[in-house]
Amino acid sequence: MTLQTIVLFCTASLLWWSVEGRQFPNQFKFGVGTSSYQIEGAWNVDGKGESIWDHFTHHHPDMIADRSNGDVACDSYHQWRRDVEMVNELGVDIYRFSIAWARIMPTGLSNQINLKGIEYYDNLINELLENGITPMVTLYHFDLPQKLHDLGGWLTADIVHHFVEYARVVFKTYGDRVRMWTTFNEPWHICENSYGRDGLAPAVNFSGVANYICGHNLLKAHAEAVHLYREQFQSRQHGVIGISLDSRWYEPATESTDDSEASEWALQFHLGWFGHPIFSSTGDYPEYVKKRINALSKDQNFSRSRLPVFTADEINRIKGTADFFGLNTYTTRLVTKNSESNAANYKTPSFEHDSAVIFTVDSSWASAHTSWLKIVPFGLRKLLNWIRKEYGNLPMWVTENGIGTSMGTVDYQRVDYYNGYLDAVLDAIEDGCDVRGYIAWSLMDNFEWRAGYESKFGLFYVDFESPNRTRYAKMSAKVYRRIIESRSIDNSFRPQPDVIILSSDDMYCDKNAFENKACVP
Ligand code: GAL
Repeated sequence: MTLQTIVLFCTASLLWWSVEGRQFPNQFKFGVGTSSYQIEGAWNVDGKGESIWDHFTHHHPDMIADRSNGDVACDSYHQWRRDVEMVNELGVDIYRFSIAWARIMPTGLSNQINLKGIEYYDNLINELLENGITPMVTLYHFDLPQKLHDLGGWLTADIVHHFVEYARVVFKTYGDRVRMWTTFNEPWHICENSYGRDGLAPAVNFSGVANYICGHNLLKAHAEAVHLYREQFQSRQHGVIGISLDSRWYEPATESTDDSEASEWALQFHLGWFGHPIFSSTGDYPEYVKKRINALSKDQNFSRSRLPVFTADEINRIKGTADFFGLNTYTTRLVTKNSESNAANYKTPSFEHDSAVIFTVDSSWASAHTSWLKIVPFGLRKLLNWIRKEYGNLPMWVTENGIGTSMGTVDYQRVDYYNGYLDAVLDAIEDGCDVRGYIAWSLMDNFEWRAGYESKFGLFYVDFESPNRTRYAKMSAKVYRRIIESRSIDNSFRPQPDVIILSSDDMYCDKNAFENKACVP
């Protein structure tokens, strides 16, 4: 892929924009997000311990698309002032970021605290507050300390204790200033993609078994951390605590009853696996999920269900442990039933087989450069409504939503994506969903896990060749800022980015009439 060039600098857009159209409610908040491993770099600097992502990328570069890693990434460990400046430039209310557990507790255990690591997040939080930006802090965004993985990671019951002790340090240290917490980012990915498959570190790849053990421990760790916060910190610190669950929207492939049922099964397996224990009145896994895995386990010669069973005490501890529902979503799939789903000997046990559905896409859906991501804004509206109907009208936050494009700053596709998905949020609000805010993913291009640096999700472009990892606002950053200022969407607003950078394969740009044709290579 050849990068074509830098052409123009900092010209304000001459385009006029309209503030007509639907408005976001006054109290609705906008934000932007990142995560520690994806941006910080400084993987072994100032006493930081090794995380599973350091370990995985160093030992298996072959498993990363461009053989890269997060050793330096966006160098946010050193460039955090610039990060806050960018957050400010967007005009958002909230910056969502995560703490690297191994940066403040190198082995993951609470006997050893790394003061330099503590200082890093202290500085970041203080700088945000000085700029009037609310920090939303995620305790865990995929980067387990490697030493805890060596002890068994999310497959051991002990991890619950270690996570709670980590949470205690974090609440004690930063809770006087942080008022918005989420415990986990995307448990489905932490357990299915990392333990069930090899999509993320530590790539255990034992689906149908390891994924459910991980999920069980993770739900207990989440619940205990929330109890700790509520019992010992919340009344003094006045914050809220929740969790960010991810899901695609699963659209029935046809109008048949079978396909509607398949859609419900897919949602129960994906969102319900973690959502049901926390948000439903049962405090347990969805009935369908329990029954299905139990029956298959018997057929497959297991002496008990592959899905662990909660005790009555555990159910009581987990039920209701969130002040809000955080939803991360990017795309949609069509679903239909898997006709072979009842074959007991169907390959080896797996989450996919358990859920008994098959996924396809509609060929008319536009595709992002990141090929798994089909652009289907109505999916966001439907997901928010599904959550409202399933769990009651609780406060909801879209904690991640965005699109991966190729290199470049003239990112029409991202502009259209945000316009479309934010419009879907307005639809959901009109439908009656209590959506409190929207956090765009991501502040800047960063290390996109197994896709390395090949998939760019940023509102800001990062020059990964420059020593300071210089950042430039893309067109989408300016559009997002205008949406926030005007509190409405204007589909015709096409501002110029800080600098024009094109990639030769960015055909999306060619197809559209950029006002001065500067984007045509
Ligand atoms: C999410 C993840 C983010 C980011 C995003 C884009 O699953 O939480 O860290 O990588 O996907 O793919």
